[in-house]
Amino acid sequence: MTDNAPSRRRFLQAAAAAGVTAGLGRAAAPAGKVLVRRDIASLDPNGPEIASLRRGFAVMKARPASDPTSFIFQANIHLTRDLPAARGWNQCPHGNYFFAPWHRMYTYWFERLLRAAAGDPTLTVPYWNPASPASRTLPVAFRLPADASNPLYLAERNTDAGGVNAGAVFPPSAAATTWVAMATTVYSSPGGTNAGFGGAAKRQSSPYFGQIEGWHNLIHVLLGGTTGYMSDPFMSGREPIFWPHHANVDRLWKRWLDQGNGRANPTHDRAWMDATFDFVDENGRAVKMAVRDALDTEAQLGYRYDDDPPPVAHPVGVAPPRPAPLPDAVTAEAKVPRTALGTDGPVSVTVEFGAAREAIGKAAASGAAMVLLAVEGIRFPAEPPVYYETYLNLPAGAEADYQGVHYAGNLVFAGLGPHLHGDGLPPGVSEYTDAEAKLAEEEGECPPGGRRTFDVTDLVRTLHARGLWDADRLRVTFVMRGLIPVNGAGVTTPGEKCRFDKVSLKVT
Ligand code: C2O
Repeated sequence: MTDNAPSRRRFLQAAAAAGVTAGLGRAAAPAGKVLVRRDIASLDPNGPEIASLRRGFAVMKARPASDPTSFIFQANIHLTRDLPAARGWNQCPHGNYFFAPWHRMYTYWFERLLRAAAGDPTLTVPYWNPASPASRTLPVAFRLPADASNPLYLAERNTDAGGVNAGAVFPPSAAATTWVAMATTVYSSPGGTNAGFGGAAKRQSSPYFGQIEGWHNLIHVLLGGTTGYMSDPFMSGREPIFWPHHANVDRLWKRWLDQGNGRANPTHDRAWMDATFDFVDENGRAVKMAVRDALDTEAQLGYRYDDDPPPVAHPVGVAPPRPAPLPDAVTAEAKVPRTALGTDGPVSVTVEFGAAREAIGKAAASGAAMVLLAVEGIRFPAEPPVYYETYLNLPAGAEADYQGVHYAGNLVFAGLGPHLHGDGLPPGVSEYTDAEAKLAEEEGECPPGGRRTFDVTDLVRTLHARGLWDADRLRVTFVMRGLIPVNGAGVTTPGEKCRFDKVSLKVT
């Protein structure tokens, strides 16, 4: 393919510069051909691509779990409660900067297995892009026919709001707000924040999901609801829509890089580049792949997306200057009434700046320091099938508009549940002390450290510039959202056990 040549050349140059053997990883691509992953909305549910996809899933599902090329074995590579664990199971990295490359490799190897199982050398995993207004329901091929004759169908999905399988609609502030992740310019989250695109620079799971993972988590939650597979990382690999969802996340990683302006993978970070993970090829043989061998989807992995721009050299970006850390971070905080989040009305809390007034004022006026909004002490008994749009200084009575100037992002509880801390995970994967985690688990809650941060540096400066800032206090408003119901159904509110203790604004 001629249009692949520049990108291939670029890769070889980069590989040579890095002292890597040229051609490494290339063997993976089928006969030098670059396959295209397409938007599922562009495929006919009764057409040949979906038929092929169904055949691949059906063949893999029919294989016994002991077969490394089976659907269940592959799902267990993500995470599983099945014992004894086979080699390669339970790998999924979440809450760290391996999220994007690992899920890319996982989808890539799964796709190869699917291709072989379907006997279709052109099969690719389509991507599902719910940000597109035409794609706000679960793709119809995954819903209908709603029985065992359809290997893409699964009963264990969010039943709220009439049900994902009945066509309940993903709300725009959940589906379309990939822009929050796209706006980030750093890959690795600065310490103790969710502010990077790709997550915290560490090996362990942590609550510091990157922005793209945070967005992806919300789609998981809305797909799975309280009891479905997608809300449970131990089961999500057994949900066929997992793959189109992850193909889309993978595509968004490319779209993020395409924006340039300093956006770059952390290729200087050897711990990231050299990290190696275990997968299985279509012959059932164990294979290893390093992050550095999966950074160029065309040259190294042999696939592209239907909306990939023509290959041009990524701008060697100069990162916009990040504010230098202040010698002393200042924090203003407000306690939240215990029952605040249980119902569906908007909830507002006010953070009084007090002694932090001056530092916050300076940051708001100049943007010269990073401003973080943190929601802390998050607890809930079971994953609620809802999330909270979060607004700063939304005037009382004003309409909550996620496209408006006051919108800060979504508060999502995914990944803070008790099941992520214990349940067969190796020791040390939690950020919390054993005693804290144990107590929380006894109460059926996530650990008391459950915490989410929003990088509101730019938002605060914008509000200030538009005269929407108050020098003494900040009003933070949470508006509950769930699936948009079908068939006159309702949305389940999570009840008063779902809560958090504190909202704080930190200038750092
Ligand atoms: Cu490892 Cu979408 O999950």
